[in-house]
Amino acid sequence: MSHTLIVNARLVNEGREFEADLRIEGERIAAIGSSLSARPGDTVVDAAGRRLLPGMIDDQVHFREPGLEHKADIASESAAAVAGGLTSFMDMPNTSPPTLDATALEDKYARAAGRARANYGFYFGASNDNLEAVRGIDPRATPGLKVFMGASTGNMLVDAPDTLDAIFRDAPVPIITHCEDTPTIDAALAEYRAKYGDDIPARFHPDIRSREACLKSTRLALELARRHGTRLHVLHISTADELALFERGPLVRADGSRKRITAETCIHFLRFERADYERLGHQIKCNPAIKDASDRAALLQALAEDVVDVLATDHAPHTWEEKQAPYVRAPSGLPLVQFALVAALECVHEGHFDAARVVQKFAHAPAQLFDVKERGFLREGYYADLVLVEDTPFTVRREDVLSRCGWSPFEGSTFRSRIASTWVNGTLAWDGSALVGAPRGRRLEFDR
Ligand code: DOR
Repeated sequence: MSHTLIVNARLVNEGREFEADLRIEGERIAAIGSSLSARPGDTVVDAAGRRLLPGMIDDQVHFREPGLEHKADIASESAAAVAGGLTSFMDMPNTSPPTLDATALEDKYARAAGRARANYGFYFGASNDNLEAVRGIDPRATPGLKVFMGASTGNMLVDAPDTLDAIFRDAPVPIITHCEDTPTIDAALAEYRAKYGDDIPARFHPDIRSREACLKSTRLALELARRHGTRLHVLHISTADELALFERGPLVRADGSRKRITAETCIHFLRFERADYERLGHQIKCNPAIKDASDRAALLQALAEDVVDVLATDHAPHTWEEKQAPYVRAPSGLPLVQFALVAALECVHEGHFDAARVVQKFAHAPAQLFDVKERGFLREGYYADLVLVEDTPFTVRREDVLSRCGWSPFEGSTFRSRIASTWVNGTLAWDGSALVGAPRGRRLEFDR
């Protein structure tokens, strides 16, 4: 069993930053304390005052396997994730085939075993006609049920009203939704197509995938959840308008009860805004769309004020060639896992919130929300999923991108923090410049 002692670290955990040492024994955190002493055989890491965080848990990624491996796969994207300080991921069902039954779900877990560098969970997907499979979901087998209440990459729109109602009534796991009203989007798209043909300028994307489309669909999801008492998590909130619909306050309330309806936003909504379409075009085309500077400011504030509960990536790689197609054919989505934590820490450098809040939204909250067993916190007995961050600036270069698609919307951006080391299940997985060792990701367990 390998033992590692990390000394002189500045731990960021459960709302606090404090100086401490942390001892890893095997896969677990064995001790957190001051002046822990090394034992024979220990690997000693001097953190020299750098910040030590629990590894991030990304509750929304598209790693594309099976079926879309020309864009990405579990091995390539989990490598990018650990390089970025993300030690667990929850992957979306819009693969090929889509994850619509227990067989497809277990196939994904089998694929990840021995190949994923980060810990993994896979979502079950809903469709207009898999209600029986949804009712039969094993709550310990998946973080939740993904419902596309708006059409996006893949063909998974659930728009039959009776089916939606039954899903919200009967799902045995948390429902997570993509909320954008497809008829509203289709009407706007037809208008822009009439004017521009297929080559609509990218800057109109937020007018086509509009705030009205988001608001309408999010309202419907909340209405269904309130009607049935559903545990609902609305993904990738992109507008100021939707924020008014959510409860303000911590995920776990003072009386120990938890919010039943929660909200997530994504890193690209915090780092980009409408003006960036001129420079980045389809690189930042995603669904829902990146909207206005005022939405970006409102989302930053909503994270700071506990209106939004979770920060994630919606990492959705497409090849560079695919992204060069005219607007109507250029796929939506951008690769994010490798630079998401440093981008979030850039928000800290800018003074929007502190590092403890990043940890709260990107590690603690997803662990609590999905009942992830023994991860997401720096606690004795928990798995040693850790990330050491140093405040040394670096500039993102294309040659450093580990995602298979080989590009990043952050190329040329300078971040003031970098990932110095990542440990997954107690073992070093990233040393600040290279991947280390064999993949050691484990299947996430859901304690419910
Ligand atoms: O931009 C997006 N890309 N939004 C989605 O909902 C799906 C994702 C993808 O899979 O490419």
